[in-house]
Amino acid sequence: MIDVLRASTSITVALTHGAKAVVPFESPDEVADRARQFERAAVLLSGERKMLPMPGFDLGNSPREMVRDVVEGKTLLMTTTNGTRALLAAVGAAEVIVACYANASAVTALLRTALRSGTHVIIVCAGQDKDVALEDAGCAGFFVRLVTDGFSQVAMNDGARTCALIDRYYGGDPAALFTAAQHGQALAAAGFAEDLAVCGAVDEYPTVPVMVDRQIVRLGPNLAR
Ligand code: MLT
Repeated sequence: MIDVLRASTSITVALTHGAKAVVPFESPDEVADRARQFERAAVLLSGERKMLPMPGFDLGNSPREMVRDVVEGKTLLMTTTNGTRALLAAVGAAEVIVACYANASAVTALLRTALRSGTHVIIVCAGQDKDVALEDAGCAGFFVRLVTDGFSQVAMNDGARTCALIDRYYGGDPAALFTAAQHGQALAAAGFAEDLAVCGAVDEYPTVPVMVDRQIVRLGPNLAR
């Protein structure tokens, strides 16, 4: 699942910095309900609506908030406009991985292994309000290019080919892609320009977040191939 601006990047950074798990929810009310089942200090209520943190929540959805001092050892209960919904829609898939530019090589290595063994790989773009988001399509194309590179027998659908063309159009450059994307422009206008730099930093983190029983955790040795 890709929601490069910003949920999949924020999840990757949080798990890199020692968060125990990130649990996706559809709504802020569900986050508040679930929080009551935990000791208050064990959880962080996180996420956004219209890009901004919600009243009563501990964190928004900025990857720059996911610093070790704040997230280490905590379970993040998270709701975002599109990203956590896309994750919940993927519940039931054999394996769900959270991907972004920041963890590109780590995710690519896993997906190339999957492809080699004949596994059907589906890239789910969170998009924006059930519509296309340019940044997710371009990031998906970046993965299509890296994951299929050197394979002669990969069958791709038109969605994968379209995303690969978008990536090529922007020269594989996240900054150019984000500058053109409506959500990239909206984040910059809302004061989150520095988030764009974090979300566009390719291979900054080697973390692969995987969803296990509706919780996203860092892929560990027991799950690694
Ligand atoms: C989303 O889930 O739509 C995004 O991650 C929004 C954002 O930039 O916070």
